[in-house]
Amino acid sequence: MPEIRDATEADLPALLAILNQAIRETTAIWHTAEATLEARQAWLRERQGRGLPVLVAVDGGVVRGFASYGDFRPFAGFAATAEHSVYVDPAAQGRGVGLALLEALVARGRAAGLHVMVGAIEAGNAASVALHRKAGFEEAGLLREVGRKFDRWLDLLFMTRRL
Ligand SMILES: CC(C)(COP(=O)(O)OP(=O)(O)OC[C@H]1O[C@@H](n2cnc3c(N)ncnc32)[C@H](O)[C@@H]1OP(=O)(O)O)[C@@H](O)C(=O)NCCC(=O)NCCS
Repeated sequence: MPEIRDATEADLPALLAILNQAIRETTAIWHTAEATLEARQAWLRERQGRGLPVLVAVDGGVVRGFASYGDFRPFAGFAATAEHSVYVDPAAQGRGVGLALLEALVARGRAAGLHVMVGAIEAGNAASVALHRKAGFEEAGLLREVGRKFDRWLDLLFMTRRL
């Protein structure tokens, strides 16, 4: 199993490659423009500066995936709720990396006093829905056709877990 640890700036090129593959080829994330290293550096500093976890899964010295959480909605009343994301290199999918990352993230959230974690998942993303079910998340709401990518409308499924 991979080692799960906090990300460092040295991990960012590998993390960026995983993220940009998902942006280019999947509906897991609804960006269309690829992310830049500078933007990810700022993101990492902002998250870690606020004490928010950015975790990587490392196997054989190679970053195989990453996971993080941040604000669900940036208003005081939502402070005990976080929205997270998990990405695994396609070459390493289906081997438990995503589950290890998500369980580590849940543990961090619990230790930080979070009450609820929210995953915002493209409803057709069977791997992510199954991963979240396996990690104890339940389906909490479906927003139909709120997204568009690759010339089609996308539904957004919220899955939540109370910690
Ligand atoms: C979703 C994702 C993170 C899952 O990571 P992974 O490392 O492949 O998943 P794991 O091997 O840890 O699988 C954990 C469980 O999820 C389910 N699962 C994972 N991939 C699946 C698939 N393709 N189909 C059905 N179920 C799947 C299974 O229940 C699995 O447990 P099992 O193998 O014991 O049955 C990964 O597919 C990914 O990065 N996809 C692209 C980005 C993405 O969709 N991120 C989530 C955005 S919300």
